[in-house]
Amino acid sequence: MSGVQVYYGTLVHSLSLKELETIEQGVIVVEDGIITQVERNVKDVDTFLTTLNLTNYKLHRLEPKQFLLPGLVDTHAHAPQYVFSGSGMDLQLLEWLNKHVFPCESAFKNVQHAEEAYTKVVSRFLKNGTTTCSWFATIHLAACQRLVDVVEKLGQRAYIGKVNMDQNSPDYYIETTQDSLDNTKAFIEYTQQKKNKLVTPVITPRFAIACSSTLMKGLSALAKEYNVPIQTHLCENPDEISFTRSLFPDSSSYTAIYDDHGLLGPNSYMAHCVHMTDSEIDLLASTNTGIAHCANSNFSLHSGLCDVRRFMSKGVKVGLGTDVAGGFAPSIIDAMRSSFFASKTIKFLQRDQYNNNNYDYLQPAELIYLATLGGAHVLGLQDTIGSFVPGKAFDALWIDPATSQGTVDLMGQEDLSQIVEKFLYTGSDRNILHVYVNGRRVSGSA
Ligand code: GUN
Ligand code: FE
Repeated sequence: MSGVQVYYGTLVHSLSLKELETIEQGVIVVEDGIITQVERNVKDVDTFLTTLNLTNYKLHRLEPKQFLLPGLVDTHAHAPQYVFSGSGMDLQLLEWLNKHVFPCESAFKNVQHAEEAYTKVVSRFLKNGTTTCSWFATIHLAACQRLVDVVEKLGQRAYIGKVNMDQNSPDYYIETTQDSLDNTKAFIEYTQQKKNKLVTPVITPRFAIACSSTLMKGLSALAKEYNVPIQTHLCENPDEISFTRSLFPDSSSYTAIYDDHGLLGPNSYMAHCVHMTDSEIDLLASTNTGIAHCANSNFSLHSGLCDVRRFMSKGVKVGLGTDVAGGFAPSIIDAMRSSFFASKTIKFLQRDQYNNNNYDYLQPAELIYLATLGGAHVLGLQDTIGSFVPGKAFDALWIDPATSQGTVDLMGQEDLSQIVEKFLYTGSDRNILHVYVNGRRVSGSA
C-alpha cells in the first residue's frame, strides 16, 4: 500500500502496564507504513484533513463500535511444531520432546515439507492478529532459510532462530558443534543480506540440556559479532531443571548457566521461567533480560504456574508467548486468556478459608499491555511497535466486535471498555477485519 493512509475512529492502546488509553474520534495518519500523526477528539475528519495539506490520501472510516488495536506480539513460538499442534499433550516436557517434538522437527530436513508447513503456520498466526512473532525453527539451515522467505512473502514482522543442539539429543536430530556454529553464521548472513527491516535473525540455543559449553560460548560470540538478539528456554519444568543443574555443576543456578555463557542481556529473552528463585529473577533484572510468559503451554505440559507479578515487580520485561505446540493455540488472544486463568489460579491457591486473598490477578488493561507493548519491550521493539505513536510502524488490527460473522454478541448497553473486554474474552479471528504490518494489509476476515 503506497501513499498516505488515514484511519478515523476509535483507537485503543497501552500507555503503560496499567494504563489503557481509549481514544474516540481518533485519527492516525500513516505514510509508507509509519505513523506520522495521531490526533484525538476530531469531530469532523474532512475539515481536519484539509489542514494537513495532503495531496493524495485514502481515508478509512471505522464504524461505531469498531476500533483499532496495536498488532499482537508473540514472543515465543515453534513454527515446525504447528504440524502436531492441538495433539500430543499427554506427557511432561522431556518425554514430550522425545515422543512428539524431535520426530516432528527432524522431518524439516525436507525443504518442501518445511515450506508447506511454514506457509500454514505463518498464515494462521497472521489471521489471529499476530503481527510480530519470535519463531524457533529447526536445526536445518535450508529449512530455516525457507521460513525467512515465507515470513517475508506473507509480510509478518518476525524474529527467526535456527535452533542449536549438539548434545543430549537423538541420533537422528543433532548437529556437531562446528556445524551448529557455521550454519548459524550462514543463517544470520542470509537473513541480514535481505535488508528487510521486518525480519531479524535470533540466536536460538534450544536449552542448556541440548547445548555444550563450547556451543553456548560460540553463540554468545556470534550474537555480539552480528548484534542479534538471543532466545532460549529457562526453568520450565522440575525434571528439566534438575537434569540441567547436573550437567553444569559449576554454575550456581539454571539462570546462572546462561549468564556464565554470556547469553543474558538486554537483547535476550527466556521462555517460561516457571520455577525461579528470587535471586534468579534478580539476575534477569540486573542483566535486563526479558521473559516470554507461555501460560497455555505451562498448563498443557503441566509445567506449573508462572507468577509474572514476581518478575514485573522487580522490573523484568514480560511478554506473552503461545509456545505452539507446547501451547495448543496459535493465538495471542488465547494467550491473554490463559494468562488470566494462570493469575486467577495463583490467587485461588493463595486463598483463605473465605476464598479471599490480596493477590492482584491480571486485569484486562494489563493483559492487552503484555500482548502488545510488553512484548515489544521484550523484543527491543518498543520504539517501533506496540502502540499508536508517531514514528512507530502501523502494525494494527481493525476489530469489529459487532460483526455478525464474529463470535461476540453486543447487547447495546456496553460502554467502550466493556466492548474491548468482550472482545478480549469472547472475540476471535472472525472479529479481526484487517491485519496490518508496517502499513500493509497482510490478513483479515473482511
Ligand atoms: N525446551 C526445549 N525445547 C522445547 C520445546 O520445543 N518446547 C518447550 N515448551 N520447551 C522446550
Ligand atoms: Fe518453547
